[in-house]
Formats: sequence, C-alpha cells, structure tokens
Amino acid sequence: MSYPTTYASWQNDPVGFWEKAAEEIHWYKKWDTALDDSQAPIYRWFKGGETNTCYNCLDRHVEGGRAEQAALIYDSPITGQIKSYTYRELRDEVARLAGVIAGLGVTKGDRVIIYMPMVPEAAMAMLACARIGAIHSVVFGGFASNELATRIDDAKPDLIISASCGIEPTRIVEYKPLLDGAIELATHKPSHTIVLQREQHPCALIDGRDIDWHEAMKTAEPVDCVPVAATDPCYILYTSGTTGEPKGVVRDTGGHMVGLKWSMKNIYGVDPGEVYWAASDVGWVVGHSYIVYAPLLHGATSIMFEGKPVGTPDAGTFWRVIAQHKVAALFTAPTAFRAIKREDPQGKLVKDYDLSNFRSLFLAGERCDPDTLHWAEDKLGVPVIDHWWQTETGWSICANPIGVELLPVKPGSAGVPMPGYDVQILGPNGEQMPSGEIGAVVVKLPLPPGSLPTLWQRDALYKAKYLEHHPGYYSTADAGFKDEDGYLHIMARTDDIINVAGHRLSTGGIEEVLAAHADVAECAVLGVKDDLKGEVPIGLLVLNAGVDRDHDAIVAEVVQMVRDQIGPVAAFKKATVVDRLPKTRSGKILRGTIKKIADKTEWKMPATIDDPVILTEMGEAVGRLGYG
Ligand code: COA
Ligand code: AMP
Repeated sequence: MSYPTTYASWQNDPVGFWEKAAEEIHWYKKWDTALDDSQAPIYRWFKGGETNTCYNCLDRHVEGGRAEQAALIYDSPITGQIKSYTYRELRDEVARLAGVIAGLGVTKGDRVIIYMPMVPEAAMAMLACARIGAIHSVVFGGFASNELATRIDDAKPDLIISASCGIEPTRIVEYKPLLDGAIELATHKPSHTIVLQREQHPCALIDGRDIDWHEAMKTAEPVDCVPVAATDPCYILYTSGTTGEPKGVVRDTGGHMVGLKWSMKNIYGVDPGEVYWAASDVGWVVGHSYIVYAPLLHGATSIMFEGKPVGTPDAGTFWRVIAQHKVAALFTAPTAFRAIKREDPQGKLVKDYDLSNFRSLFLAGERCDPDTLHWAEDKLGVPVIDHWWQTETGWSICANPIGVELLPVKPGSAGVPMPGYDVQILGPNGEQMPSGEIGAVVVKLPLPPGSLPTLWQRDALYKAKYLEHHPGYYSTADAGFKDEDGYLHIMARTDDIINVAGHRLSTGGIEEVLAAHADVAECAVLGVKDDLKGEVPIGLLVLNAGVDRDHDAIVAEVVQMVRDQIGPVAAFKKATVVDRLPKTRSGKILRGTIKKIADKTEWKMPATIDDPVILTEMGEAVGRLGYG
C-alpha cells in the first residue's frame, strides 16, 4: 500500500482504522466503544476494553515462540558491560520484581516513581509496574532534587525505585543523595524506596524505608499480569511547560499499545525478531516509547545503551553497536550526530564496522539541520528520516513511513502527517494558511490512540493549555508550514520551550531560579543557537539597586543554582549582568529580538519598544557571552 492510500484509508474510517490496528494487541476483554467522545474535547480510546501492557510486551511473546529470542540487550561502553536478556529471562525478572513491588502493598492505580540511569533494571521497573497495573512516572537522572520533589508531590507515589549511581563520562552521579534530598523537600513521603546497588558506587540505605533491590529479588515470588482498563493510565511523564504547575502527560494503556505497535512496522519498517535501537534515555518519551514499549510489543530486540555518541570510547561507538548487535534501525537526536561529525568529520570510523544489516536512521527531538542530515546520508548510505513528535503524542505526528512507502526525503522537513493526525496550519485569526506560509501547527481532534488523553489530575489545565486556543484542535505549540507537497516544516516553538541537545526545557523555569537570587531584580533567559546542542540557554541579569558585588561571583552563583535546582541537563553555563532589559511599552521583555541579535539573524526594530538604545546594549551583552 502507498502512503496516500494508507492515509486515505484512515481519513475514510478514522475509528475503523484503529480498531483494525488494535487486533494486533491481546485483550482480556474487547472494548465496548472504540472512541468514546461523550466527554469531548477529552476523548478515550477503547473504552470498556481490558488488557495488560506487560503481558503484551513479554508473556505473549514467551508463549508465542519468542522465549529464547533476545528481548533486551544492555550495552554499556561506560562500564564495559554487555548483557542480553531473552524474552523468557526478562519476563521472569519482571514477574519477580512485580512480586517485590506488590509485596510492598502497591496495587493497581498506585503511582511509582522511577529515577534511574540507563540500566536494564530501569526497563524492568517500568514493566513490573505495568504488570500489576501500577502507574509509573520516570524522572530523568539529569534532573536535580528539586525537580524530582515537584514530581513526587504531584504524583504522590507509594514507592520510588532508584539506583545508587549513574555514570557520566567524567564523573559518578550519586543518585542517592539526590533522592534523599528530594524526599526531604517533598511534602508527600513515599513509604518505601527500592535501590539498585551498582558496584561502581554503592550507597548507604535508610533502615525501614530503603530496600536493596538484589536482596529483595533473592526471595521474590513472581506475580501474574493484572488486567486493567484500556483507559487506565500506564504512565505519567512530566514535561516542561510554561506554567508553574507540573504537566504530567498521561499515557493510557490500550491506545498506547495500539499506536506504538502500528508505528514499528509502518513508520520504522522493522519486523518482529529484528534489532531496533533508540539511543535516548528512559527518562524521555523516546525512551519510554522506543527503548521499552514499542520494540517489545512488536517482538523485536531492543538495545539499552549506557554511553554517549562520543567519548565512550570514541566517535565510532554507534557504529560498533550497530555492527555488533546487527541493528536494523537507529533512532536518535540530531545533536548526537553533530557530536560524532565534529569528532570524525570524514566519517573514517564508519569504515571500521560492518553495517550491512543497518537499513535506516531516524532523527527527532529537535529540527534536523540539512547539513547533519546530508552528512549522515553520505557516511551511512541509508535513508535518514527526520520525524516530528512530542512527549504529549507519544509517537510521531509527521514522519516518512518507510514501512508503508519510502517517500522522497526533503531536508529541513519532518515529513508528512501520519494516520490519526490531521495537521493544519492556522493564522492569527484561526484561518487556514496557504502552503509555504508559517502559522501555528495544530492537529484536528480527536488525537489518535497513544496521544495524551489529558494531564494527570488536571483536565482543566489540559484544556486551557492545549485545546482552547483553537477550538476543535490540539495546539502543538510549534510553528511551521506545509509545503506544496504536503510536507511539514517545523520552524520554532511558540512558547518558552527550548531544545537543548534534544532535551526539552522551559526558559521560564530557569528564569524562576535566577529571579530567586537575592541580588537579581529582573532577568531574561533565552535559547541561543549552538553548533552542538542546537540551542543553549543564556541569562541576562538586572541587579537590585545598590548591589555592588563582583558580577562574576553573582553569575557563578546563579549558574550553580540552576544546576542544583533544575539539574545539569539544563546546560546553563552563561549569564551576564545588564543595566536594563528591552521591553515593549506594555512591559513585555523582548526575548525574541534579543535571541535574533544573539543568533545573528535578521531582526526588525519592534514598533512597540520603549527605548531602542537598549538593543545596542543587548548586542554588547550577548557579545560578552560569545554570541551576536
Ligand atoms: N544523569 C546525571 N547527569 C546527566 C545525565 C544523567 N542521566 N545525563 C546528562 N547529564 C549531565 C551531563 O553529565 C552534563 O553535565 P556537565 O554539565 O557536568 O557536563 C549535563 O547533564 C548535560 O548533558 P548532555 O546534554 O548529555 O551534554 P554533554 O555535553 O554531556 O553531551 C551530547 C553532549 C551531544 C553528546 C549529548 O547531549 C548526547 O548524547 N545527546 C543525545 C541526545 C539525546 O539522547 N536526546 C534525547 C532525546 S532523543
Ligand atoms: P519533546 O516533548 O521533548 O519530545 O519535545 C517536543 C518538541 O521538540 C516539539 O514540540 C518540537 O518543538 C521539537 N521537535 C521534536 N522533533 C522535532 C523535529 N523532527 N523537528 C523539529 N522540531 C522537533
């Protein structure tokens, strides 16, 4: 079938299309209503159905003939370990871990936070929660205690599963003090933690609260999968947003599996039994969908990689993993390729490995610059597919569905809409924009299975943030255009989100930290172009009247505050002191104009600016930071 036929078959029967896809999933009880629109604009897929995500990911394959096939390969150049788990081994480990968790009194609907590095136990923890119907919420290891505490207070977990440490190329990250700090900061206190002691840096445990993973597993009894409603949440994943309130993206159980299972063959062109590698982190949506759930639902082999694209040990590590494990498709962020290209511009290391099984490269998380795309095409000789999605949608809105049909690749574009997504470009008054013209990128409701039904315990916030701007549509907060062939070009965010090395961060969140410094009266944070990370945040600080402390000391303090309160992942390293910030007459800081000055892109004098001279001062300020 061609892409136009596939897309049209969804358009002609938008519910029937997904009912057919749902036949690929095991259901204890079939749904009563495939699409429940009784609470529109909040929609529910497969209402009345009962299923279990862990059963579909593991037991089903063990029973169906894949017991001895590798399900998960842990490849950790940073620790020098490689370990493979068959479907049977993974099922058995997960069933016993589920026994440990259930033994602590955690049951269906309870929340469990997972704060772990890239070890196979992180995937086991997620699957064990799914096995007993507990709702997990994974928090990325690069976030600091404060961010973890916010999520603890929102999700109110009974249990937190963590590890003694993570390992970064230049240091051991001690997770335990971060975890203890977060529990101390949070108002809600979980009853227990399970801590995986890693030999690289074991930690002390608190009696009565902390449980040693390995000790508990020695005597654990396996438990079976618990049927849950298709509409019950499988997980909550917190994401950065413009609001101070946590945005817990809810992923339901049934729709999630249907969307992901469909994507594996149709978008990624991968068959059951093949090896699929998403080089991301379980803390991000890419890790949830494409390290853990989708490859396992599909009966493929997934790779969990604990390392970096460069430096572990060199810029050939990706090619080594592809060759050694016979990877068919790799999914990562463009920043990883920029890092490799910087170290090995000629791609010499590619030639050291046999990549004959490798068929396609997928990039997402940030816009893929054409240079990087061409470099990857040239060095690897496979199609390089940029595709666009968000934490909220859980799988791609636009892509090049190579399992259906490989469409011509257009550098700079994130491809064409996938079935389920009626993507439109709207102007300031809600009018449809002609092709080639930029507007707000929106998706006509309902969203397909797998996309968020709502935010955790915040239906009103979900409606306010995503649905009310353009009634009848989901607002993606991205701006872009459709070209004459219907390809989407995603150009910018319309809110304060920036993408740093493919990691989503809110500049507003960083500003909040800076503003809390005793000497700072006012501040602005903006994402400026960075050759490696795509964007990095910089800060401009206006000090309180009368402060005569050394500016460098103040800058060092705010940099440390962001590291302590948000985490190293924010990559906030540069700030400078300015006398004042440019504003509109109504008092809005002109962040967009400062960004353009820093990025050296064309900018116009805003008509509403109160004093144009300030922009010259901004040029000098960003110049001090090495931009403009
Ligand atoms: N736990 C603790 N700290 C972490 C961490 C984790 N899981 N992940 C990252 N960090 C820290 C890093 O050590 C670094 O700290 P530093 O300031 O002390 O150096 C900081 O957070 C920023 O990390 P990172 O964004 O990884 O930058 P880097 O300079 O170490 O590496 C790249 C740059 C491009 C190699 C790296 O960003 C990369 O591999 N990106 C791939 C993109 C990706 O996986 N995106 C996910 C979405 S698909
Ligand atoms: P996240 O929720 O972390 O996946 O970030 C989602 C955001 O990243 C999107 O709203 C876009 O702004 C950006 N993004 C993701 N993929 C792409 C892409 N292929 N092209 C352009 N921007 C992208």
